[in-house]
Amino acid sequence: MFLSDTHLPQLLSPDTYTDRSWFEREVGSVLLPSWQLATTLAEIPRVGDFVTGRLLGRNVIVHHTAEGPRAFLNVCPHRLALLTSRPRGHQCRLTCQYHGWEFAPDGSTRRIPDAPSFRPLEKGAFGLHRLQCETLGQLVFVRFDDGTAPLADLFGERLDDVQRAVAGRHRLVVSWTRDVGANWKAIIENNLESYHVGVVHRATLGVMPDENLCDHEFSPVHSRFRAPGGVAGPIGDWQRTLLRRSGLEPSGTYHHCLFLPNLTVLWMDDIAAVQTFEPAAPDLTKVTFRGFALRGARPTPLSGGLLAWAARRHLLFWKRVWEEDLRLFPDLQAGLANPARPSSGLLSRREERIHHFQRWIRDRVTAGHPVGVGQDGNEP
Ligand code: FES
Ligand SMILES: [Fe+2]
Repeated sequence: MFLSDTHLPQLLSPDTYTDRSWFEREVGSVLLPSWQLATTLAEIPRVGDFVTGRLLGRNVIVHHTAEGPRAFLNVCPHRLALLTSRPRGHQCRLTCQYHGWEFAPDGSTRRIPDAPSFRPLEKGAFGLHRLQCETLGQLVFVRFDDGTAPLADLFGERLDDVQRAVAGRHRLVVSWTRDVGANWKAIIENNLESYHVGVVHRATLGVMPDENLCDHEFSPVHSRFRAPGGVAGPIGDWQRTLLRRSGLEPSGTYHHCLFLPNLTVLWMDDIAAVQTFEPAAPDLTKVTFRGFALRGARPTPLSGGLLAWAARRHLLFWKRVWEEDLRLFPDLQAGLANPARPSSGLLSRREERIHHFQRWIRDRVTAGHPVGVGQDGNEP
């Protein structure tokens, strides 16, 4: 059941999906203070492995050290070159590609070629800019500001569910990234409603789910959608039999959570998927989908192999669903950017998670700047 009895207003005006200064305020007040998923342990499995990338417009490097993953700005303190432009690699000590400065696992300088010419410079001083870095299961998060809220706070009351969905029994099996020509909020909002299912996903998901079988949940840090879900037909039947035999009782339920502001996690009996929405510009977003397969509590080589095959097949189905949405976004952005509009938009009860999301963004971005938002209405 949905929580609102009535339709709801859009709380963010179309301008907030296109305007550069609003975008910069979002980055400063909403995104930089939040934990951002940077990588997974499966992508840096050995001590010494690193990955680089851009996150919220900043160049970042995550290095797997003996003490666990550590994150730094991928900018050398000497003359500010990128340490490396390789997307991934292996170095026991991070070493700058330009003049060869080497850095200890904590980012302090370890070896400076021709060090006497920098006299006086204290040993270890002038190191890399370290970012906060924490892991949950296989997920590695970074944060740019020096906030004190631990990563666990991102997930609130759903922490245990997410931990189960991305912990030891799950293995990362697929990862897809796409640069999408649309505002990050429009893409997340698409993930928050089942209203478009019968049109955009007619070929894959069919019809929108019955309201009486749906369940919404809201908290200050997340929203959740829950509905019946699972693989249909004979493959689903034997998949459920294998799960039972390997010690897990299938629930036949689909869960989808948004952890504010820009991380979604969905999980079902056999798979979990984590999506990040990383804004690069008001009309450009990097969307990354990482899919995990459940191996069962007590897998045998045969049941583990069959479950992994079925889970991968299930994730490829969700990739088709994902691509159906991706095709839509440029047209959604073009409509939002149109200078003349018939209205400022309207949300159905089925879209009430969008209202919750918009209110969270609006309250943070407009603290002290009451510009560019619509009227509040019924609160889900
Ligand atoms: S810029 Fe990195 S060592 Fe000089
Ligand atoms: Fe969709």
